[in-house]
Amino acid sequence: MTEPDQHSERQLQADGVQARVEELLRRMTPAEKAGQVTQYFYFRLPAGAETEPALGMDPDAQPRAVEEALGRGGVGSLLFVTDPAEINRLQRLALAGNRHGIPALFGFDVIHGLRTIFPVPIAMAASWDVETIQQGQAVAAREARAVGIHWAFAPMVDIARDPRWGRIVEGAGEDPFLGAAVAVAQVRGFQGTDYGQEDRIIAGPKHFAGYGAALGGRDYDEVNLSDAELWNTIFPPFKAAVEAGAGNVMTAYMDLNGVPASASRWLFTEVLRQEWGFGGFVVSDANAVRNLVTHGFAADLPDAATRAMTAGVDLEMAIQDPAYAHLPEALQAGTVGQDVLDASVRRILEAKLRLGLFDNPYVDEDRAREVLADPQHREMARVAAERAAVLLRNQGNLLPLDPDALGSVAVIGPLADSRRDTLGPWVFDFDLDETVTVLDGIRRKVGDRVRVESAPGIPVVQRVFASMFDMFGGNRPEDPEGFDADAELRRAVDLAGAADVAVVVVGEWQNMIGEAASRSSLELPGRQLELLQAVVGTGTPTVLVVMNGRPLDLRWAADNVPAILDIWYPGTQGGAAVAKLLFGEVSPSGKLPFSWPRTVGQVPLVYSHTRSHEPQNQGRRYWDEPSTPLFPFGHGLSYGQFEYTNLTLDHSSIQAGETVTVSATVTNVGQRAGDEVAQLYIHQRYGSASRPVRELKGFQRLTLAAGQSQTLRFPLGPDELRYWNAATRDWVIDTTTIDIFVGGDSTAAQTVNFTIGT
Ligand code: BGC
Repeated sequence: MTEPDQHSERQLQADGVQARVEELLRRMTPAEKAGQVTQYFYFRLPAGAETEPALGMDPDAQPRAVEEALGRGGVGSLLFVTDPAEINRLQRLALAGNRHGIPALFGFDVIHGLRTIFPVPIAMAASWDVETIQQGQAVAAREARAVGIHWAFAPMVDIARDPRWGRIVEGAGEDPFLGAAVAVAQVRGFQGTDYGQEDRIIAGPKHFAGYGAALGGRDYDEVNLSDAELWNTIFPPFKAAVEAGAGNVMTAYMDLNGVPASASRWLFTEVLRQEWGFGGFVVSDANAVRNLVTHGFAADLPDAATRAMTAGVDLEMAIQDPAYAHLPEALQAGTVGQDVLDASVRRILEAKLRLGLFDNPYVDEDRAREVLADPQHREMARVAAERAAVLLRNQGNLLPLDPDALGSVAVIGPLADSRRDTLGPWVFDFDLDETVTVLDGIRRKVGDRVRVESAPGIPVVQRVFASMFDMFGGNRPEDPEGFDADAELRRAVDLAGAADVAVVVVGEWQNMIGEAASRSSLELPGRQLELLQAVVGTGTPTVLVVMNGRPLDLRWAADNVPAILDIWYPGTQGGAAVAKLLFGEVSPSGKLPFSWPRTVGQVPLVYSHTRSHEPQNQGRRYWDEPSTPLFPFGHGLSYGQFEYTNLTLDHSSIQAGETVTVSATVTNVGQRAGDEVAQLYIHQRYGSASRPVRELKGFQRLTLAAGQSQTLRFPLGPDELRYWNAATRDWVIDTTTIDIFVGGDSTAAQTVNFTIGT
């Protein structure tokens, strides 16, 4: 992988960008500058869409107000438009309304694909495959740029340790080391070595910082995190994304330790810019500047604008009535300095110039159509879905299925043939017709050789409280009048009973996960468990296929269903990938990016907890249920079988600041080829703080044929051995002994140790 070229100041000078920016700044009025630091949603909602009270806006007034603002040069950026013709039209309005010829920057939530939908981000993280992740976001960037989108509000790099929080699906899970690697891969995928190049867009890691730690997993609720947690757990993926050259960072909605994150000068100026040298622009989350008033923090909109801008928030994302429209008043009152506003405008103009927007503001609509239809993109999405799926259990090697030995398959469950759910949340520009469900995939795979029957088995399940995302077509129609739920269940169970094998596809519907989709329970919604139990009760060998973005309560299944395959929301080609996995054309190879709890009462549950004073009772912290995970962090089976041997070190002792190299041999002792993700964990025995029992500090994905071995090397240097210490309020490398564990999950047994001397 090539190192991204951070667009240095020298480079900007060489490109003449800085001179042009300064020239523009000299000519702009305060109102024009305020316009450049304002980003508007532009919504054309489907007829009849309910926007009240979720967004509090009038669907007609909103686009009208934005077009008026465009006409007077009052818009720096727009979001939520994906149609290239519409983008060109709005760009024409922007240029006609701006006497300096400054084009608008278009952003969008390109989270896991634009037209070609890849598996959801938590799934991509479960692949532990940085190349595939990078390629996936490169495809997303290519499609986005082709339609005129210049910037993705992604990756979401928030560490999530509480699966009640719906947005766990958008991130890389619980671990900062994995999270950082996934963040870097995504930034490189979106931006390449320079986002000014063809087919590239700006990456915007979000939400800085702490959003994933919402109290009780309740979206938007306050977050209280110690400095040690922030530096050791929450910040590493952000820092890694910044070091990879991310051009943008987004703020977070919630209060962090009592102060709205979106007005934290500490976060945006001291940590992000001063400590990490971030040179891009910061955008607020949607309405987060106005919301400083809602939080009971800012007195009014001018105060909100002042506080956000002086904290370091360059661009306000607003639905309507932006607070930054009050910046000219703030300048006049002296609450915001001219230099502060100019610095923000400068960053926005620099981004536009680097993107080449002044020279090339429009897109070619024919080319956009071609790029969106590229079959290679679908192929890559399918491979990603194959690599992301996690085989949780495979008792008696029920999987892979042999199509030649099967006469019939029953594909049961409400998610077996749901196109929209196969895609997952946070997609808007998808093509349902081309989406391959699990049922479609199995049918295509076995052709006429095997009889395939299917039934959903249960009635439609709805959220108790509707989602604001339902207005984008996510909600399901109610069952028809007179629907007989018991008869439907019986029909599905009879089909399963008569088949040679049953594949039961259950989980959460896509609008039950994501933003504003937190949950108080982890149970399978509706009568899905009952359906699964009845199918297994027929005695037909059953494969459970789980469609999810968070761990669900699978206690019964883990004891009673022989094979469990977690496919997440696998995207456009999801069903094709699942069929290949089920029938053994490819081996499952994903690994869990979080600890899978048994029950919601255990959360938050992480593998990297400290030892405590009774480590021997770690699994018995509750008297009613083991406190260990159902499946550990890093777990995932394969059709191959991997053994770890020869764990060795090149040094038994090092000085702080030096590096030790760990070697281990992995052998596929199974009968079939497969990929394995080898993982390295450390534990510091003693020092100036108690450190976690295990911390991931290295991983490598490798392909091994049956019988093949490979020796891996993992360097452990200052970056892996240091940590932020609450006592000294600084980074330390202690004098200590470090235990190392290498294996296929976070319970790896192979161990060796070394000392760090003074
Ligand atoms: C979310 C952001 C997203 C933005 C724009 C907000 O509600 O928190 O992650 O990028 O909307 O859609």
